[in-house]
Amino acid sequence: MSKHGWAYLGGKQVPLKEANVGIMTHALHYGTAVFEGIRGNWNNDKGQMYVFRLKEHYERLLRGCNIMRINLPFSVDEYCKITLDLLLKNNFKEDVYIRPLAFKGAEMVANLKLHELSDEFALIILPFGSYIDNDRPIKCQTSSWRRPEDTIMPTGVKITGLYTTSILAKTEAVSAGYDEAILLNNDGTVSEGSGENLFIVNGETISTPCETDNCLLGITRDSIIQLAEAQLGLKVVQRRIHRSELYLADEIFLTGTAAHITSVGELDNRKISTGKLGQITGKLQDLYFSAVVGENEKFYDWCTPITPIN
Ligand SMILES: Cc1ncc(COP(=O)(O)O)c(C=O)c1O
Repeated sequence: MSKHGWAYLGGKQVPLKEANVGIMTHALHYGTAVFEGIRGNWNNDKGQMYVFRLKEHYERLLRGCNIMRINLPFSVDEYCKITLDLLLKNNFKEDVYIRPLAFKGAEMVANLKLHELSDEFALIILPFGSYIDNDRPIKCQTSSWRRPEDTIMPTGVKITGLYTTSILAKTEAVSAGYDEAILLNNDGTVSEGSGENLFIVNGETISTPCETDNCLLGITRDSIIQLAEAQLGLKVVQRRIHRSELYLADEIFLTGTAAHITSVGELDNRKISTGKLGQITGKLQDLYFSAVVGENEKFYDWCTPITPIN
């Protein structure tokens, strides 16, 4: 990955190639960090970038920091401002991925007491196209790895250490020729994808696992629920979902900042319905893709526009 551009570390903007931490940094050894993934979507017709639901991402980051006893000096609004300033400094004219990271920056290895470790905040912004190819329905595998329960590790926020499970699951799925992994809970009910929330469609009803099913409360998930209800008049039910319901669904789709909204055409070598892009998934994709580039009037307040300097 190119190390071009500007980052934010130690309370100031620095060239990305100088934004480094030491080998003894606590977070590097124990996963004691909380992160966010935010997208800036480039609208070529308008010559503007739209940052999607910036405030909600920082609200979730600070919730994670609370759990991990990471004390950050600034408010949500101030982190939004730091992010917008860094976006202007980088002046990208393409889709970007914005990665804030709040971490135990103490160079202290043999210490497992969060309250004794000092905190750091870093921010990087990288050009970012598609994470998963959204042009075709993808093939998924039910993972042999289970989604950790919230009794084992907090699952509703993005703690870096939690992602070892997602990484094992994704690696297993891709190595076996699939595009993505779907993780079950320990009791065998459905949780989510390795980096996405999951929805099923049956007739006019959309269902998605609830918070107590150990899934991340995704910001894209929330956006899709609002779009489906407000603009398609569909009912979205948050409930426990059995594994076998997935094979029998009319449609399955995954949602996430990186993956956007991705249709699942096949799961464990079984076609989902016809295996083609479902009608409701397609309509939600259209609504979502126009919302993220500031073209859905009703949801314009989800977007923060940035005009690059020429
Ligand atoms: C495990 C996991 N689930 C779900 C999501 C989707 O969340 P969001 O829509 O907020 O990006 C993500 C991505 O952030 C994730 O990493």
